[in-house]
Amino acid sequence: MLSPVSWNENGVHIIEQTRLPGEEVWVDLESVEQVAHAIRILDIRGAPAIGIAAAFGLALAAKICPDQDPESIKACVQEAARILGGTRPTAVNLFWALERMQAHLTALGEVDGPRLRQSLLAEAEKIRAEDIESCKLIGKFGGALLPEEGTVLTHCNAGALATGGYGTALGVIRGAVEAGKRIRVLADETRPLLQGARLTAWELMRDNIEVTLISDNAAGHLMSKGEISACVVGSDRIAGNGDVANKIGTFSVAVLAARHGIPFYVAAPTSTVDLSLASGDLIPIEERDPSEVTHPRGIQIAPAGVAVRNPAFDVTPHDLVRAIITEKGVATHPNMAAQLQEMVSKAR
Ligand code: MRU
Repeated sequence: MLSPVSWNENGVHIIEQTRLPGEEVWVDLESVEQVAHAIRILDIRGAPAIGIAAAFGLALAAKICPDQDPESIKACVQEAARILGGTRPTAVNLFWALERMQAHLTALGEVDGPRLRQSLLAEAEKIRAEDIESCKLIGKFGGALLPEEGTVLTHCNAGALATGGYGTALGVIRGAVEAGKRIRVLADETRPLLQGARLTAWELMRDNIEVTLISDNAAGHLMSKGEISACVVGSDRIAGNGDVANKIGTFSVAVLAARHGIPFYVAAPTSTVDLSLASGDLIPIEERDPSEVTHPRGIQIAPAGVAVRNPAFDVTPHDLVRAIITEKGVATHPNMAAQLQEMVSKAR
């Protein structure tokens, strides 16, 4: 199984996602700054994968801390948490993982340096293993919601590449296919950074799952022709009321799906649910560099100096979401908020 972030003797082992699909390059990140940089430029991306990388980033900070005494190692870890916490604002899994690792550190109490290092790494490995397990459960619960045969639209990449492995939205598709359903995928290309074209198409073709690439603006037309049975997307942060932040363009897909009576599903682990936020208006939305819009893959496609907005995410209101699929089950209307709360408390 493809797993984009793991640990080896050098540090954090990743696939450089910005190089896909042209080149498959695996590298070892040996400093916290390298991990932070990889997250910022999207070599590591997708909410759960960012969380896993951050957890390994703290284990790395402990490993390479020049001092051996526990208090100095703890200071190295705190500094790493500050750096990693400043990389990307929207995916809550980043902050969830940093908090979980720091709580683990506190709960360890008085231990020596080697034990502290080993225990932090074990916790990061646990976060990764649990994420893979969650994706498989999401696949099982979500796969059951899909028809025996049909075409499923997805946006961005919420696959193995965005998680510990297996994927959330693509986990649902894998779950359905493994259950013997005949599912074809339509992948939105996902402007501006083309995660759908570069990553989802690559990942599904690698697994022999039938995939057809479309430009983002083709979705409405194909829905109106009755060619789409369901939409499944991942999420970067889900507010307490079920509002869903995901890759820019997700909201448009949800509105179109509602217009055509097509079920719109969100697949995410409970680590993506942020009960501290009552609604999606409160989710911080990352704005990225204008050059991502004006210079895709380095090629200028807009006049120099044009004003640009480049929000990386949008929020889909909960009333457009047919169900939220987590590793603890499926939250539906009318009590989506209460069900989300119950799932989160079961998980923690
Ligand atoms: O900017 P990205 O590529 O990190 O955005 C990723 C997404 O929006 C995914 O859909 C989301 O993180 C869910 S990943 C399982």
